[in-house]
Amino acid sequence: MTTYITTPIYYVNAQPHLGHAYTTIVADTYSRFRRLMGDTVRFQTGTDEHGDKIAEAAEKENESPNEYVDRISAMFRSTWPLLDIEPDNFIRTTDKKHVETVQSILQKVYDKGDIYFDKYTGLYCTGCERFLTEKELEDGRCPDHKTVPDEITEENYFFRMSAYQQDLIDHIHANPDFITPQRYKNEVLSFLSEPLEDLCISRPTSRLTWGIPLPFDDKFVTYVWFDALINYLTGLGYPDAEQFEEYWGVAEHLIAKDILKPHAIYWPTMILSMGLPLYQKLHVHGYWNVDETKMSKSIGNVIRPAELIEEYGVDTIRYFCLREMSFGLDSSFNADAIIARKNADLANDLGNLYSRTTAMLFKYTDGVVPKASKTDTDTLLKDFADVASANYIENMNDFKFQRALQAVWELISHANKYIVSNEPWALIKDPTQHERLHTVLYNLVETLRLLSLLLQPILPGTCDKMAKGLGLAEDSPLVTDLKEYGGWGMLESGTRLEKVDALFPRVDIKKKQPPVKQEQKKKNKGKSVASKKGAECVDGVIQFDQFQKVELRVATIAAAETVKKSDRLLKLTVNAPEERVIVAGIAEYYRPEDLLGMQVLIVANLQPVKLMGIESQGMVLAAKVEEDGNSRLVLSTVSATVPAGSSVA
Ligand code: MSP
Repeated sequence: MTTYITTPIYYVNAQPHLGHAYTTIVADTYSRFRRLMGDTVRFQTGTDEHGDKIAEAAEKENESPNEYVDRISAMFRSTWPLLDIEPDNFIRTTDKKHVETVQSILQKVYDKGDIYFDKYTGLYCTGCERFLTEKELEDGRCPDHKTVPDEITEENYFFRMSAYQQDLIDHIHANPDFITPQRYKNEVLSFLSEPLEDLCISRPTSRLTWGIPLPFDDKFVTYVWFDALINYLTGLGYPDAEQFEEYWGVAEHLIAKDILKPHAIYWPTMILSMGLPLYQKLHVHGYWNVDETKMSKSIGNVIRPAELIEEYGVDTIRYFCLREMSFGLDSSFNADAIIARKNADLANDLGNLYSRTTAMLFKYTDGVVPKASKTDTDTLLKDFADVASANYIENMNDFKFQRALQAVWELISHANKYIVSNEPWALIKDPTQHERLHTVLYNLVETLRLLSLLLQPILPGTCDKMAKGLGLAEDSPLVTDLKEYGGWGMLESGTRLEKVDALFPRVDIKKKQPPVKQEQKKKNKGKSVASKKGAECVDGVIQFDQFQKVELRVATIAAAETVKKSDRLLKLTVNAPEERVIVAGIAEYYRPEDLLGMQVLIVANLQPVKLMGIESQGMVLAAKVEEDGNSRLVLSTVSATVPAGSSVA
């Protein structure tokens, strides 16, 4: 099978930001995934370099358009490797080959009679580089750029878009997955339910010279969208290159909703006029917002990918983007959420599973993958792995990255629980249990192998490291071929592991806080211990009567929820036996749904305090576990179910 996936070609009037990075990360992830599935893949991105916007930006920078576009295009090109994004082709609309192809297509469409000359008055938005219809405006302004469009009357060339309206509607109905998610298909169909106007595809050179001259009238240059969309063909060497033959039939375009109309209406009608088969799929995602507003250069609220990588690491950013955004919907950017994901999902769940498992192998089997017992009937992890892989594949194919990752994290969570419930540290002590120990360890290390295969498209650097640690080469089919090696039991016993560093060092949230907050914390700390309570303790020793003052009870967790704007806190409603609310700093280690019904130990007679506006009536106890330079909290519980509110003696 073959895959051809494209991103939009980005305007060079702005430097790359997280919005551009997101689309390109998605395309890279999808390419890597299709490669894992055995496909021959071509992934194309690039830059869109003609038009009013670019000419204006160059002028502002006191550069010639050529110098300017070379400089900014190079910035896009050099950003992608920082994110481990590896396109097969980087196209520029100023490439000679692209210019020639656009001109030959224009001539073809003109000769066919689909381009005509006419007068036109319309509302032009420079930001969008297109005429807007009255219906598209919000309070007379462009909904994306918030600017009032200019009314322009011009003689221009027009593309007979309306002639292909019905063919396009029929195609969308006959191919339900042509535009996904469905909400965007519906949006396009609703737009197509009104008569389409023809598309103005030229700009007079009296107004704009920075464009591709029309081959049939040199007093005009090509409208930037008619030029830009053709990149998807020029990148394949259309019309006669082998790559065109190989890839055009499977083309999938990836965009955000801002450019739905050019991709779902202009482009297919252009393709129909050229007499080519339509692209296969248009995948449309939502916006990254900052404080409810789309991240964009014109608004000035952009986040730079290079800064994020520097702060959190490339795989954390890739993971965060794919895990946090539900494909198709908008998402709010929040740096705290990156830290929470890194600490909880990457360092705690995945990182700990990896370090605990490999540490046990080094300790119990001298770092060699043991043989699983042939007679042991424990298929628990295999069964979970089968389900996780199947869900992962289905969701990755559907661009539902969030769900694909949830499926993988289910497996990670089961594997972590499997360690606790099988207690390998107890099995090693009993020689009659060594065969069982080997099976448990094999199941765990094979899970790690599958994880480094499944997560490769999302966390390429980390997976290479995991593979190395498992004694496998980066390009070993065991970690690069999901089709042949996605099943269970492929890792050979006898394979020797290699020691590697922790996968994800935790972000110390305290260090991340601004100095003022730290100062406040210190002050409060002093107060609560020394002056409020007046605890007299010498060298850390307290008297029994002092300890007796602390009222410890068993509480049953009846409800748990996250606390808005906090990555650390969970709001617990417990019965002890009366109902009370306790705010606990355990959000990085526990998911609310996993806590329901759990019996924990609480300090019941603490002075209530307000945390993030919620009154906390007590404190839960937890063990602080230090491992591999990381620390985490494990809640203290009771060894059998007891009535809620039982006192702890
Ligand atoms: N040059 C045109 C595209 C021509 S394609 C034939 C263009 N360029 S752009 O630089 O404005 O890029 C728009 C694309 O960048 C979006 O469709 C999306 O892929 C990405 N994003 C830019 N800002 C974004 C967000 N705030 N959120 C998500 N994606 C964003 O339009």
